[in-house]
Amino acid sequence: MPSVFLKTYGCQMNERDSEAVAAQLVAKGYSLAPSEAVADVVLLNTCSVRDNAEQKAVDKMTNLAGQFRKQRPGVLLGFLGCMAQSRGRELIDQLPDVDLVVGTQKFHRVADYVDDLLAGRRDKIVDTEEERGSEAAIKEHLLTGAAKSKSVTAFVSIMQGCNQYCTFCIVPYTRGQERSRTIPDIVAECRELVARGVKEITLLGQIVTSYGRREIPEREGKSAFVQLIETVHAIEGLQRIRFTSPHPKGYGDDLVAAYGRLPRLVESAHLPVQSGSDRVLKLMHRGYTRARFLDIIAKLRAVKPAMGITTDIIVGFPGETDADFAETLSLVREVEFDNAFVFKYSPRRDTPAAVMPDQLPEEVIEARHAELLAAVNVIAERKNKACEGSVAEILVEGPSRKNAARLEGRTRSNKIVVFEGSERHIGQVMDVKIVHAAPFTLYGDPAIVNLG
Ligand code: 5AD
Repeated sequence: MPSVFLKTYGCQMNERDSEAVAAQLVAKGYSLAPSEAVADVVLLNTCSVRDNAEQKAVDKMTNLAGQFRKQRPGVLLGFLGCMAQSRGRELIDQLPDVDLVVGTQKFHRVADYVDDLLAGRRDKIVDTEEERGSEAAIKEHLLTGAAKSKSVTAFVSIMQGCNQYCTFCIVPYTRGQERSRTIPDIVAECRELVARGVKEITLLGQIVTSYGRREIPEREGKSAFVQLIETVHAIEGLQRIRFTSPHPKGYGDDLVAAYGRLPRLVESAHLPVQSGSDRVLKLMHRGYTRARFLDIIAKLRAVKPAMGITTDIIVGFPGETDADFAETLSLVREVEFDNAFVFKYSPRRDTPAAVMPDQLPEEVIEARHAELLAAVNVIAERKNKACEGSVAEILVEGPSRKNAARLEGRTRSNKIVVFEGSERHIGQVMDVKIVHAAPFTLYGDPAIVNLG
């Protein structure tokens, strides 16, 4: 059977979609190629959130097409996902060697389309249609982790789309309107994962705090999302639950309280703030203020002082002044995020911000990006250093990505810990003493406490 190489750009949702596509291909008998050089089919699962993400995938495809045209003209080339959704056929006009373009509601059709193309039944396929129920079509899991060990962790997609329409963001156009899977459907998938050995599940959606809000009524003051977390939490054998990404606007007290009540909901929150300036937050259509964001952080820390908190920030949004930027810097210093992803504003097609006045010059954006990143890193390193000497509970995921001779696990607060261990530790929850903190990695010693 032919082999497929699948490369993923962008977020965890994209990784999850790729995993499901790969599992569907494997179920049909395809093998997964270790590199594009030996593959019969090369699929790029794309990201549109910033221009450079799109550019990377287009450049990659341009190189592949050029290379294969001479050496291996039979190789089938495809774009999947967000950029495929928003550009559609235009991608084939630009790159005529591309055979397949599949949008975000049709991932479950990819394997059939590859069959059709390889069998010569069809020539080019572009499918960017919407499909009712497609939010529940991403179910298959491959469950092979790093170095082919079995996965200890898994992502589960609980919803698709976003109705928030932040003025900078292309996601509502690439992923569509919010659509949620049912609780029983999600729980069945989680149960099966746990039966296959998964210990930690991350619930995924573009805006998980909006999960089920139209379909599932509040019960005893609990939103649909909290009801879902509770139900997943009750699955026997599951050790840890995470979720990403919530939106501050929908971050209710019931969700804060869930961290206090549910021991397997680990102390980690990725909560995108985007800016520390109320003026900019308003222009971004975020639906909350700086004070409201700080209030959520304070409540989370009141419930769980050890909460690991990360965020996303955009610098250089149109009209952002020095004073606005100073507010973002001060927010970062006030909150002391464990880490933050800092992005340079990138104008996206069809978004209101792309045509706002006062688009900032590249140099200003660059300078703010460098300054904010430096501030974030100083804090992140300091917080990492503060872990030295403490004992942390980790879930051992597999061989370290940096050094396969060692193992790595994650703390409940989502920090990576590298340590000397053996195969039998994989999948275990264990305590390690943090003996050294490098800027972005902790090094642990399990021998000192509780050797599992
Ligand atoms: N420009 C820069 N960054 C963006 N993000 C989303 N849209 C844009 C854009 N147009 C960032 C946000 C979001 C993260 C996934 O990507 O910070 O939280």
